[in-house]
Amino acid sequence: MSHLLDQRIACGNLTAQNVTDQKIVVSGWVFRYRDQGGVLFVDLRDRSGILQIVFDKAEGEELLARAETLRPEDVILVMGTLRNRAKEAVNPKLKTGEVELLVQDLQLLAKAKPSPIPLDEYDDTSSEEHRLRYRFLDLRRAPMQEALRARHNFYRQIRRFLEDNDFWEIETPILNKSTPEGARDFLVPSRLNPGDFYALPQSPQIFKQILMVGGAERYYQIARCFRDEDLRKDRQPEFTQIDIEMSFVTSGTIMRLMQQMVLGALSDVFGVVTHPEILRMSYRDAMENYGNDKPDIRFDMRLTELGDWVSTTEFQVFQKAVANHGRVKALRVPGGAALSRKEIDDLTHWVTQDFKAKGLAWIKHTENGLESVITKFLPEASQKELIERTGSVPGDIIFFAADSADIVFPTLSALRLKMGERFGLIEPGFRALWVVDFPLFEEDKETGGITSIHHPFTAPVEEDKEKLLSFLNKDISSLAREEKTELLSIRSNAYDFVLNGVEIGGGSIRIHEQPVQQAIFQLLGITPEQAEDRFGFLLKALEYGAPPHGGLAFGVDRILMLALGRSSIRDVIAFPKTQKGQCLMSSAPDSVDFKQLRELNIKTLRQEK
Ligand code: AMO
Ligand code: AMP
Repeated sequence: MSHLLDQRIACGNLTAQNVTDQKIVVSGWVFRYRDQGGVLFVDLRDRSGILQIVFDKAEGEELLARAETLRPEDVILVMGTLRNRAKEAVNPKLKTGEVELLVQDLQLLAKAKPSPIPLDEYDDTSSEEHRLRYRFLDLRRAPMQEALRARHNFYRQIRRFLEDNDFWEIETPILNKSTPEGARDFLVPSRLNPGDFYALPQSPQIFKQILMVGGAERYYQIARCFRDEDLRKDRQPEFTQIDIEMSFVTSGTIMRLMQQMVLGALSDVFGVVTHPEILRMSYRDAMENYGNDKPDIRFDMRLTELGDWVSTTEFQVFQKAVANHGRVKALRVPGGAALSRKEIDDLTHWVTQDFKAKGLAWIKHTENGLESVITKFLPEASQKELIERTGSVPGDIIFFAADSADIVFPTLSALRLKMGERFGLIEPGFRALWVVDFPLFEEDKETGGITSIHHPFTAPVEEDKEKLLSFLNKDISSLAREEKTELLSIRSNAYDFVLNGVEIGGGSIRIHEQPVQQAIFQLLGITPEQAEDRFGFLLKALEYGAPPHGGLAFGVDRILMLALGRSSIRDVIAFPKTQKGQCLMSSAPDSVDFKQLRELNIKTLRQEK
């Protein structure tokens, strides 16, 4: 048998050009079969595709009899001659559809139990849970094979690009001190240092910066990252980044090079053609126009500012929102007057439930003018102004949100996407942009202090550096309102790459001067002792001649999800976790032996098994 295995060739690429008298050997899994009495047709499947193989009584009755005992997913090896199919039997959908292998020798390599999940490409009915439990079978399905191949090809293309651009691939540790990406850490107890824990990296952030201090200049890594956060369809507890850091560069260079890398690979591997215009949009514009820092700009439905229009109306709801330092914004939906009363009620229910909006005021624009329960509060001049600002025409609907900013923006941003889909306004294809000029800080509602939006090593934009330093030694918790607004307006030199409304990458220019870094820590309320304790090694490194540097990281799983048109990143990961962070196949996480815990000096609160 081993002798024949060595002669095996892939079955899925054979075409009429391969037809000769010579015997060939193929092997793989029995996929489908048809018994036509005296002739048995089997679709043989391997990684490369499918080949029809034929067992004919004329080649031996014993051979046919053995073939008739084959069942789906049995692993076989066959030797035979390739021949052209009869004209009427040609299958144009298969690459191998013009040929078939007439079998002269069959070996059963492994018998398979009946598969608990259908593997047929036409049958996608099993639940995801079931598929994850039997992932070893699920991986054989065409969509999963496609995902594995796509990831491999994508990495190859990315590596090529980085090789051509003089990057070094360098590995950084998995057992770490905590890294500051803002999520919870996964911890690993240290046996040799009782009571101490390693943290798994949320990203290689600190190490890649230290590599720049160490003179590496251009680093990359296809890096596993671990974050203990609430999981969603585009979030896994462990995921993969293409992680990049460069020295002696500006953000402009990084953005140019990185969009070339990712869009190039998407085009080479998937034939994805991205819209040629790659905007750089400020965070402010993204929020004000789309309600979101990762806008889907495949359609141009923008929010309208109405804060200063409210005084022309007599509508209490709007006026109260403005008086409470809130925001009033509108969303005009072209063609939206077609929405039924029930649909509008459902939308209202949705925004009040999911986004804590207090309501969803709306006005239909008909041939007779504006129609709504709230038009009675809008004098004629006010209505005219509204039509002008929103650009509304008969047939449209205008929705309103009046609340604090943290309700108005998410509400209208989600409504915009839903309406874009409902009315088929989203252009098919791919559209990317950079979102830039993020604020450096945001308010921490719990503590009254501030936190970093990106991470605490992100540099301010050059123009805002003085402003930042002017806050040194001030007590953040007792700043006047205007001062706080001023502090929150400091822009960071950070950038996010957004594709079709999904944040697929993000990074920044880092602080390479120690005094600026210390100022940031002080503002964030991180004491010198805490800073020393958590990232003292980075601060020390910055004192010994750090080059200006910056970088970013792309989320590979999200990119593949978009490129393959899948609805969850679980569908592009070989062994993903569920929403509860479990691997259903191996049943991780799991309890461990008491002995193991004792060696680690660990006592759990839960009863040990
Ligand atoms: P950031 O935290 O923005 O930056 O992460 C970079 C990219 O990683 C992807 N990503 C995720 N993908 C799947 N599951 C998750 N839980 C998850 N979290 C993040 C996203 C995101 O854009 N060290 C910085 C990068 C830098 O500054 O260079 C960082 O990790 O696509
Ligand atoms: P009411 O005056 O409460 O009957 O509300 C009139 C309309 O305004 C209804 O369609 C409500 O859904 C809507 N509405 C109420 N509060 C808000 C709000 N904060 N933002 C937007 N619409 C609202």
